[in-house]
Amino acid sequence: MGKLHAIHRCEACGSSQPRWAGRCPVCGEWNSLREELVLPHTPGSAGGGHGPSGSFAGVVPQALSEVDIEGHPGMPTGLPELDRVLAGGLLPGSATLLGGEPGTGKSTLLLQALASMAVAGRRCLLIAAEESAHQVRRRASRLGADVPGVFVADAAQLPAVQVAIAQLVPDVVVVDSIQALTNPELASPAGSVGQVRECALALASLAKVSGFALVLVGHVTKDGALAGPRALEHLVDTVLNFEGDRYLSLRSLRAVKHRFGPTGETGLFEMGERGLTGVQDPSALFLGDRLAGSSGSAVAVSMEGYRPVLVEVQALVGRPSTLPRRVVTGADPGRVGFLVPVLDQRAGATVGGSDIYVSVAGGARVTEPAADLAICLALASSCWGRPVPPDLVAVGEVGLGGEIRRVGAMAKRLAEAKRLGFERALCHSVAPTLRRALSLAFGDGSGEVFGHGYGDNCDARAAIGPGAARARAAAAGGPARAVSGPGEARAGAARGTGAAGAGGTARGAGPQLKRRRPRLSVMVNDLGAI
Ligand code: TYD
Ligand code: MG
Repeated sequence: MGKLHAIHRCEACGSSQPRWAGRCPVCGEWNSLREELVLPHTPGSAGGGHGPSGSFAGVVPQALSEVDIEGHPGMPTGLPELDRVLAGGLLPGSATLLGGEPGTGKSTLLLQALASMAVAGRRCLLIAAEESAHQVRRRASRLGADVPGVFVADAAQLPAVQVAIAQLVPDVVVVDSIQALTNPELASPAGSVGQVRECALALASLAKVSGFALVLVGHVTKDGALAGPRALEHLVDTVLNFEGDRYLSLRSLRAVKHRFGPTGETGLFEMGERGLTGVQDPSALFLGDRLAGSSGSAVAVSMEGYRPVLVEVQALVGRPSTLPRRVVTGADPGRVGFLVPVLDQRAGATVGGSDIYVSVAGGARVTEPAADLAICLALASSCWGRPVPPDLVAVGEVGLGGEIRRVGAMAKRLAEAKRLGFERALCHSVAPTLRRALSLAFGDGSGEVFGHGYGDNCDARAAIGPGAARARAAAAGGPARAVSGPGEARAGAARGTGAAGAGGTARGAGPQLKRRRPRLSVMVNDLGAI
C-alpha cells in the first residue's frame, strides 16, 4: 500500500487539485477546496480516499435475512434519557456526533454516560483533546464518574489517539472534541473543515473495523457558523443535538439523524451541581410553578418525539402602540405572528395593535402547530384580563380561516393531560373554530360556566371517576341539543360580549349553561375512557 498524501478536493464538483487555490479551476466555485488524505492510485486498488482498497475477492452477497444481528446488540448507556434518543443505546462500530453550543453540557453528559457504561462492565476511553487528564478527573470526581473502567488520554493528535485505541481495545471511545484534534500530515489548522473531516473519517473507519462505538463531540455556534460539525453530519451514523440555555438548567437532546432508529425522540435533562439528571416527568416540571387562575396563561399538550408533554404558554398583551413589539421565547415567533391577525380578524380578540410577549414557561420549547390554540387562549386571556379555566388544556392547530384543525396523537396527549389532573380539553371536536373555542373557554361570563356547581354536579369529574359510563351517556345526548337549541344562540351572543372584553351576563341562565357543559365534556369523556 502506498503512502498517504494530501490533495485538495472541491466540495462543489469533486475534482481534486494538488495545491490549494481560492477558486476551483474546474468548476470555478470560490473557497471550495478542502484538504484530504488519499492513497496513491495503483492498479488493483480502489483508487484513493478512505474507501476500500486492495482486492475485492471474498465479498460475497449475503441474504439480508441471514445477516447476524444477534452478535451486535446496542450498548445501553445507562442514562435513560440518552438511551431513549438513541433507541436503546450505542451500536458497536457506529459513529455518533454530539453537537451543541459550548457550555451546554456535552462533556458532562458523555462523562456520565461513560461512567455508567463502565459500571456495566464496558471499557471506556475518553480522548480529552481540549482538557488535561487532571481537569477531567476533577470533574469526574464531582460527578461521581471516577469509576474503574473509564480511561482518559489527553491527546490532540490523530496518531496518538489511534495508538491509545489500539492499546486499550475499548468498547466505547469519546473524542472531546473533534475540533481540537489534528492530523499532523495536513497543513491546515485544528478546527478547519479539512482537519475535522479527515480526523472524523479516520476514526469512524477505525470504529467500523475494530467494533467500538465512537462518539465525537462537536461545538456548534448559535447560528451554526462553525462549519466543522455540519461537515461531519453525512459521515456519521447518528447526529445528536444538545440544546439549552446555559443560564437555565433545562437541556434537551434530539436525534436529527439516526441510522438505527427513529429520529424525533427527545431526551430532557436538568443540569445541577452534580451534573445532568434525566427529567422523568417533564409535564410536572413545566407546570410546577404555574399560577393557576391567572390571566394570560394556557396549557398546551405538545409532542416531544413520542412523548406528550404539558407546557404552560404565557402571554402578555401590552398597550396599543404604533410600532407594536413581538417578543417570543420558547415558541416559533413566525407562528405567533401568524396567529395574531387570525385572533384579530376571525375571533374578535383585538391584540394586533399592541405589544405582545409570549413565553413558554420553564425553558420549554414548543414548535408544534398543536400549541396554536393554547397560544391564542393565552393571548385572548391577557387581552381580556380573564383567566383560562385552570383544569383545561388546549390542543389544536389554528388555520388562517380561524378554523381549528385536528392534530395527531390525540389519545396520548389526552391521557397525559388526564394523568396530570386536567379534566377538560379544548380541541377540534368540541370547537371547530377559534371563535367558538374562545367562547367556550371564557364562556358567557366564565365564572358561571366553569365555576358554578362545577365541583358538585359536573359530569366532567364523574366521567373520570366511577360515574364515567353515566356521564358518557349524558354527554352523548347533550351536545346535539346544545348546538341546535338555545344554547347556541347564547354562545353567539357571547362572542359579542367576549370580543368587547365585557364580563357577560350569563348569570341566571343556568339550564342553558348546563346544557352547554356536556359539549366540553365530550373530550372529558374521552379523557375518562383512556
Ligand atoms: P460542559 O459539559 O463543560 O459543557 P460543554 O462540554 O458542552 O462545553 O458543561 C459546562 C457547563 O455546565 C458549565 O457552565 C458548568 C455547568 N455544570 C454544572 O452546572 N454542573 C456540573 O456538575 C457540571 C459538570 C457542569
Ligand atoms: Mg466540553
